[in-house]
Amino acid sequence: MRIGILGSGLMGGKLGTIFARAGHEVVFSYARSQKKLEQLARHAGKKARAGTLAEAARDADALLLAVHWLRMDDVLQQVGDLTGKVIVTCSLPMNVDNTELVIGLTSSGAEALAKWLPKARIVCAFNTMPSEVLFPVYEARRKANRASLVYCGDDSHGKKITAELIRDVGFDPVDAGPLRIARYTEPFALLVGQLAYKGKEGPELAYRFERFGK
Ligand SMILES: NC(=O)c1ccc[n+]([C@@H]2O[C@H](COP(=O)([O-])OP(=O)(O)OC[C@H]3O[C@@H](n4cnc5c(N)ncnc54)[C@H](OP(=O)(O)O)[C@@H]3O)[C@@H](O)[C@H]2O)c1
Repeated sequence: MRIGILGSGLMGGKLGTIFARAGHEVVFSYARSQKKLEQLARHAGKKARAGTLAEAARDADALLLAVHWLRMDDVLQQVGDLTGKVIVTCSLPMNVDNTELVIGLTSSGAEALAKWLPKARIVCAFNTMPSEVLFPVYEARRKANRASLVYCGDDSHGKKITAELIRDVGFDPVDAGPLRIARYTEPFALLVGQLAYKGKEGPELAYRFERFGK
């Protein structure tokens, strides 16, 4: 598939690299320097290149949205028409300090995004783990014990593509249902992130949560 990475930081950089090494054509976009995007693309291999947001979106079969919530307006303004595009979002709706969710309980960032972009196919995934969990995944992806990763959305085509990408990353995709389930996965992602950074007991607990499907 052709995959546009919108936001090439920790999540976008790592996932885009894994997608490119799994054989997909990847365009890395949106970082503070063009040099960083080019370095990422070189590191990811022959299937990857650097581009603008609009270039990443053009002809893409799927887009990975991985920017801080506060950058969303800027990204959506530059990216162009997203009608019919499958957008896999891992962006949590966090405040400036990254301490609290700015949307919760009755809605979610994924649902807010779906309202902003009613003609796109939004799937919420990849937001149930801290990105460190991804580091050893690529190396381990052919081993038997794979962690599960939940995804949710209302668009069956988008969900099919997302499940394939999750498999390529090395997780077992678990369909958690419609997009409104993101109301529960987003706070859960925050909890897992907080546990992961809570000292000695944190990471072990967080990783156990990652494997709750096993
Ligand atoms: N990291 C995780 O473990 C994790 C887990 C679950 C969910 N999430 C969510 O996923 C989203 C992305 O997280 P992340 O950790 O990957 O964030 P990040 O490392 O900060 O990446 C965001 C990207 O946006 C770029 N960016 C920021 N401001 C910009 C600007 N003014 N102009 C151009 N580019 C700009 C950054 O550029 P630079 O590369 O130059 O900094 C970076 O490439 C967030 O919503 C986060 O809550 C993250």
